[in-house]
Amino acid sequence: MHPPAPGADGAARPARLAVGVVSAGRVGVVLGAALAAAGHQVIATSGVSRASVSRAAALLPDVPLEPPDQVAQRADLVLLAVPDDMLPGLVTGLSRAGSFRAGQIVAHTSGAHGVGVLAPAAEHGVLPLALHPVMTFTGRPEDVQRLAACSVGVTAGGIDGTEGADEAAWSVGEALVVEMGAEPVRVPEAVRPLYHAALAHGANHLATLVRDCVDVLERAGVRPAERLVAPLLSAALDNSLRHGDRALTGPVARGDVGTLRKHLHELGRAAPEVTASYRELAERTAERAVAAGLLSEQAGAEVRAALKDAR
Ligand SMILES: NC(=O)c1ccc[n+]([C@@H]2O[C@H](COP(=O)([O-])OP(=O)(O)OC[C@H]3O[C@@H](n4cnc5c(N)ncnc54)[C@H](OP(=O)(O)O)[C@@H]3O)[C@@H](O)[C@H]2O)c1
Repeated sequence: MHPPAPGADGAARPARLAVGVVSAGRVGVVLGAALAAAGHQVIATSGVSRASVSRAAALLPDVPLEPPDQVAQRADLVLLAVPDDMLPGLVTGLSRAGSFRAGQIVAHTSGAHGVGVLAPAAEHGVLPLALHPVMTFTGRPEDVQRLAACSVGVTAGGIDGTEGADEAAWSVGEALVVEMGAEPVRVPEAVRPLYHAALAHGANHLATLVRDCVDVLERAGVRPAERLVAPLLSAALDNSLRHGDRALTGPVARGDVGTLRKHLHELGRAAPEVTASYRELAERTAERAVAAGLLSEQAGAEVRAALKDAR
């Protein structure tokens, strides 16, 4: 591998690397394309399914498809972009196959794992990195632009408890992210599971909330539901990111207990599967509204009583 070289701004910046992408999934092809655009050379990728083969053809044209061990062997930077549950077995398998060597950078893209999962590779002297793009990808060309607008959670060092000590490793991870046009954010190994839980809670449960909202509207015969709610939900998201809890509106934040009781009654009748999550989120909303000073303690207690009655 070429050692990290200082850039014009003095920051560590990896030289042109031979990049091997295992595999051509939704994330692998996008990061591969971004690294190629940054001047690195994607030398090979792997993929067996029709979806992976066609993604590779679209985003990594002229890059040969090879088995994972061969991709890893020839690369300076091995990018492991496989499903979370496959990652530990893949790392162990490639390590046993002798695919890793000292001086390589081995990075994975999983949010759930830190660098600990790369311990078998680190035993061969590789520089382990976790580079998790905080974005949802489908593996289409527009994702390369999306990557440039997002942050990437970087974890380096830490396998042997030396977290933070290996500044050069963190710098290599950050430099790679900057080269892909994205913004690096340091995520220490110890907080990686909590970091991932927070992101899943926000992004995945937000999607569930939106779909439940649309389903209830459609059940009420109000259509087109998506068009109806898009500006409202976009504004709610934007306001809460910009203004925090002060952006809270609605019957809970106002202490309109009569309206809240009606909601719970109607949901119980027409959409009982949504009632429990409505109640839980209303409770949490009331807690946040009281803590933010939007709702008095007394009004908060009345909201909680109404929610308890509905159980
Ligand atoms: N998609 C996202 O929005 C997103 C965002 C951020 C991070 N991530 C993370 O990025 C990683 C990859 O996610 P993804 O969405 O790109 O997955 P994906 O689209 O399902 O692609 C997975 C790729 O891994 C290959 N693969 C599966 N098992 C393998 C194994 N045992 N050995 C070698 N290759 C294997 C698949 O090949 P075949 O198709 O040939 O089976 C496929 O090319 C995950 O850790 C995920 O958490 C995903």
